[in-house]
Amino acid sequence: MRHPLRILLVGRPGVPLSEVEHLLADHRQILMTLKPVVGNGQAHFLSDLQERCDAIVLVLDRDWRATLEVCFRRDAPATKPLLVVGPPEDMELMRMAMRVGGRDFFPLPVGANDLVPALDRLAKEEHERHGGLSARVTTFMNAKGGSGASFCAANFAHILAARHRRRSVLLDFELQFGSLCTYFNLQSRNGLIRALELVDSLDVTALQGYTQQHPSGLYLMAAAAEGLVLPEDVHEERVAKLFAVLDEAYEELVIDLPRRLDRANAAVLDRSDLVILTVQQTVAHLQDIKRLSTFLTGDLGIPLDRLIVVVNRYQRRAEVTLSDFGDALTGLRIETLPNDYQGVSQSINLGIPLLDQAPRSPLSRALLGLVESLVSPRERPIQPQRGPVAWLSRARH
Ligand SMILES: Nc1ncnc2c1ncn2[C@@H]1O[C@H](COP(=O)(O)OP(=O)(O)OP(=O)(O)O)[C@@H](O)[C@H]1O
Ligand SMILES: [Mg+2]
Repeated sequence: MRHPLRILLVGRPGVPLSEVEHLLADHRQILMTLKPVVGNGQAHFLSDLQERCDAIVLVLDRDWRATLEVCFRRDAPATKPLLVVGPPEDMELMRMAMRVGGRDFFPLPVGANDLVPALDRLAKEEHERHGGLSARVTTFMNAKGGSGASFCAANFAHILAARHRRRSVLLDFELQFGSLCTYFNLQSRNGLIRALELVDSLDVTALQGYTQQHPSGLYLMAAAAEGLVLPEDVHEERVAKLFAVLDEAYEELVIDLPRRLDRANAAVLDRSDLVILTVQQTVAHLQDIKRLSTFLTGDLGIPLDRLIVVVNRYQRRAEVTLSDFGDALTGLRIETLPNDYQGVSQSINLGIPLLDQAPRSPLSRALLGLVESLVSPRERPIQPQRGPVAWLSRARH
């Protein structure tokens, strides 16, 4: 192993748990913390894990239903890579293990030759992921008001959390009139503003006081619920400090950024790995996206390959065509999202992300495709591609 792997070993006290504990204790590269599951006092702790660890090994016995109930909130998977060990040939157990985010299932009795190579692979992944890198930042900005940046940011972040199981937070930088809470039917709170105010004393633990969690696992740092925040009150140094803490806590930061070019927003754009500019098909949008992209690449020095233009509510027969955008924005990647007025309105009004509300709609598929094209192959969803057959064959070995 390239670097020590911090493992949280979880299970009901008993023979299976002790066996796995002994097996892992022999490996110096594994730093193990044992967390016995004893009752309901620990409700849902794996869906909302506080401990620092790289992976979880969950050991289940015949009473696995009770253990899963204690460990996971309904439909909210583990927030760290999860390996499950449990009784063999129980299809229902394997299905449930997949549902809570299990990457691999190992039937009891488990041998060192099964579990340790799987942990080794995880260690390598963690090593690569932490190799001087920090959270990936994807920022959405409208080229013109009302183009759909907030909707796209919200649903992009939701897909990253729900489908790709990435530990993701959505930040509402529309500090004065932010409304992302309503897109998820969550209570409005001053999360981001308070976090920026108190950023000097902020750490990963304190951060949790300023976020809300959606059942999908996505975290939201909301904007103002009350009072008025003036853009000049938000300093770029504070934004940078906040990012440093968020880097430690999350893999993905998705930002809804208002179309205002001040120093704080410039700091956000500068730190962004990807800036997604949303537009619609009118001449006014075309003019604005041209000016905005010139400003971003010229004045702010953002490389072309970090910008993507998304033509939202795209219609093939519109007067302003895709090739008009292509001609005006040479060298920029241009994507389209279909028009779905009813689907989008329903999703926003009900506070249900589109993937939950209409998973098979053309717009959902296009959003899934957009996210998939931007994540690396190993961050792609494991669960939907892996049928019970793959699990079954492993269980038999
Ligand atoms: N793909 C789409 N198909 C149909 N309607 C859409 C689509 N995307 C967005 N809309 C519509 O556009 C409206 C505005 O989108 P959104 O809520 O994202 O605000 P916004 O563009 O961020 O606005 P602001 O500039 O005020 O921040 C939505 O209420 C929705 O009705
Ligand atoms: Mg908006």
